[in-house]
Amino acid sequence: MDREDPGPASPFYPVIVLANTANQPRARPSSGIPSPAVRSAAERRELLKAVYEEARGCVRCQLHQTRTTVVFGNGNANADLMFVGEAPGANEDRLGLPFVGQAGKLLDKLLAEIGLERKDVFVANTLKCRPPDNRDPHPGEIEACNEYLRSQVDLIEPTVICTLGNFATKLLRADSTGISRLHGREEVRIIGPRAVRLYPLYHPAAALYTPSMLEALRADFNRIPELLALGPPEQPSVLEVPELEEGDSIVVEQLPTSPEPEHAAQLGLF
Ligand code: URA
Repeated sequence: MDREDPGPASPFYPVIVLANTANQPRARPSSGIPSPAVRSAAERRELLKAVYEEARGCVRCQLHQTRTTVVFGNGNANADLMFVGEAPGANEDRLGLPFVGQAGKLLDKLLAEIGLERKDVFVANTLKCRPPDNRDPHPGEIEACNEYLRSQVDLIEPTVICTLGNFATKLLRADSTGISRLHGREEVRIIGPRAVRLYPLYHPAAALYTPSMLEALRADFNRIPELLALGPPEQPSVLEVPELEEGDSIVVEQLPTSPEPEHAAQLGLF
């Protein structure tokens, strides 16, 4: 897909902003699963900053050799709605922000049509670094970058994730079904420790050049408020524990917790 977006950049947003509503913890669905402590927006932001710091110096794949900037993502760390695109294009690579070209303008327009702004949502990509000449992401690059996206989803805890285009949709559904079959069909998926409403959409860059796709994208977009109004899906209530043979040992992964206050104070990076 051509991600070259030569138009003027959209207005800047801080990399991560807080919602007006919050330093309040978000309401969470009741479930049997032991969940990490309910995080405030400020805690989410601080934890995201730590992931961003790691991503900034990332050399996990070859794209670090050609990138100008790591495009971590931006928006509201406490958002209920998250968008996941493909990869930064030339403008994004230059400015360090996602969706700042023509596709970003279309995203802003469609958001405005449903009464939302960028500051209400969090926008990220499957890859944090631009593939040279806007070529498609390679599987190894997606794999190398996946942990950053997973951390973003785990920390933001969105209710609805809109995947934009094939790459994000295939990655988060762990399935090769294409976007033309899936767009506009919401489903509940377990991503990390939580259930989310996954909502595949056409990529705005593709819709820029194909009127029928734009029409479909707009129609699908118009259903986002309805999905948000449903609230978080029911969360998994049973932890799947592998059956153990005698002598087996298991490693229990530590769930992320809020940073110690003195540590958080050192993270004033944004
Ligand atoms: N296309 C994407 O998928 N992401 C961007 O950030 C810009 C264009």
